[in-house]
Amino acid sequence: MITTQEKKRYAAVGTGGRLPMFIDPLVRDYSRHGELVGLCDVSETRLNVHRNRLVEEYGCRDLPLFPASKFERMLGETRPDVVFVCTVDAFHHEYIIKAVEFGCDVVTEKPMTVDETKCRAILEAVERTGRKVRVAFNYRWAPGASRVRESIASGVIGTVRSVAMEYMLNTSHGADYFRRWHSYKNLSGGLLVHKATHHFDLVNWWIDAIPRQVFSYGDLVFYGKDNAIARGDEALTRYPRYAGVPGDVNDPFRLDITKGNLKKLYYDAEKDSGYIRDENVFREGIDIEDSMSVLVKYRTGATLTYSLNAFCPVEGFRVSFNGDRGRIDYLERHASHIISGQSDRELAREQAGEARCEELTITPHFEKSHRVEIPVADGGHGGGDPLLQRRIFDPDAAPDPLKRDAGHEQGAASVLVGVAANHSMTSNQPVAILDLVSLKPDARHLHELV
Ligand SMILES: NC(=O)c1ccc[n+]([C@@H]2O[C@H](COP(=O)([O-])OP(=O)(O)OC[C@H]3O[C@@H](n4cnc5c(N)ncnc54)[C@H](O)[C@@H]3O)[C@@H](O)[C@H]2O)c1
Repeated sequence: MITTQEKKRYAAVGTGGRLPMFIDPLVRDYSRHGELVGLCDVSETRLNVHRNRLVEEYGCRDLPLFPASKFERMLGETRPDVVFVCTVDAFHHEYIIKAVEFGCDVVTEKPMTVDETKCRAILEAVERTGRKVRVAFNYRWAPGASRVRESIASGVIGTVRSVAMEYMLNTSHGADYFRRWHSYKNLSGGLLVHKATHHFDLVNWWIDAIPRQVFSYGDLVFYGKDNAIARGDEALTRYPRYAGVPGDVNDPFRLDITKGNLKKLYYDAEKDSGYIRDENVFREGIDIEDSMSVLVKYRTGATLTYSLNAFCPVEGFRVSFNGDRGRIDYLERHASHIISGQSDRELAREQAGEARCEELTITPHFEKSHRVEIPVADGGHGGGDPLLQRRIFDPDAAPDPLKRDAGHEQGAASVLVGVAANHSMTSNQPVAILDLVSLKPDARHLHELV
């Protein structure tokens, strides 16, 4: 029988929209194994929203709350075993490093960090302290992604020589990265770091390879004031944000944060830190790209051609693997990721037009193609979130033959592709990942990294 002393103690920093992914299953489903001991953020309002929610929804006892400046005090007073890091990407490294130096393990949201200097500092701190850092790559745990991994590992298409991946973000989900901190490169690393870290991680893991060199192009061609004016959509640029101004209710990019959860978490919290959640996506000052193309060479010799567009009418991705014994094609189109608070018109359009579809086809050389069945799973991110939650909280979770856990080195291997791509965009030259971070230079395969 597990006693209170044996329960793991968890604290979290960054109490925004993503936090419930970790704290809700902990208090709801895994309270036999662990307890939440403290929350920390720059916003007192958001801290209180989550604390009150836990008390009201799950009957939790009161929870100590700490301002971000008192993170170390939280560690000292609440003595967590594990810290969840769910802050703005550019600050992940500060909390990861402080937590491991205090003797805690860490579960960090992706991307692990946003540039090579911060990445090196994290790797050195983990090396120095011997603590564990898990990067929450939930996409690996979705059933479709797992079937792709099994299919490649079965050897049915031989050794993978090249991969092509096209990722489409639609004008709901994609636009949302242009409303707030994600739209500034110093805070998010841009979409090749913030978003594509998932995709580069999937490819690294699917083909079990470590990236070596990267070349890329990227531009801001749709969002931003100048692009709207060039298309004749000047009216869309009129307001710096939407709350508090009349605006046009039919504007498909309008986000209403004066109601529901968005109001409680963001609108009511603006006074705390000046975080504006509904900035106009057609304003001046956005410095990330919305259209990107990347070429990656792996240490195994394989190549990846990758593109990401953030203004598509549909959402999803397609990826193909060419092996020396055949080919795998995987297509996923989904209607999820509708940002709550969006206009009813936009929601109806999305729900009508975008039924989820998922197809995995294997074509060995000189044989007929066959489809691989993909089980439908409940839960966020195609069913990946609940499986990852079990993995984090349940000490009796079965060993994972697909090796879906990712540590700090695997977190680095994905984020460094985006970081290198950012450098390549400005230098117009290919960038070697080993010139950025010395990531186990003799290893070729991802499974050789922690
Ligand atoms: N794996 C996924 O699928 C997934 C999905 C969404 C978000 N995320 C990640 O989760 C993290 C949080 O995203 P979100 O959507 O909750 O964003 P959010 O903007 O809702 O929350 C970020 C929180 O960080 C806080 N913060 C800002 N500066 C801080 C500082 N210096 N110290 C402490 N706290 C600070 C903000 O006050 C806010 O509460 C990001 O790293 C994001 O990439 C991952």
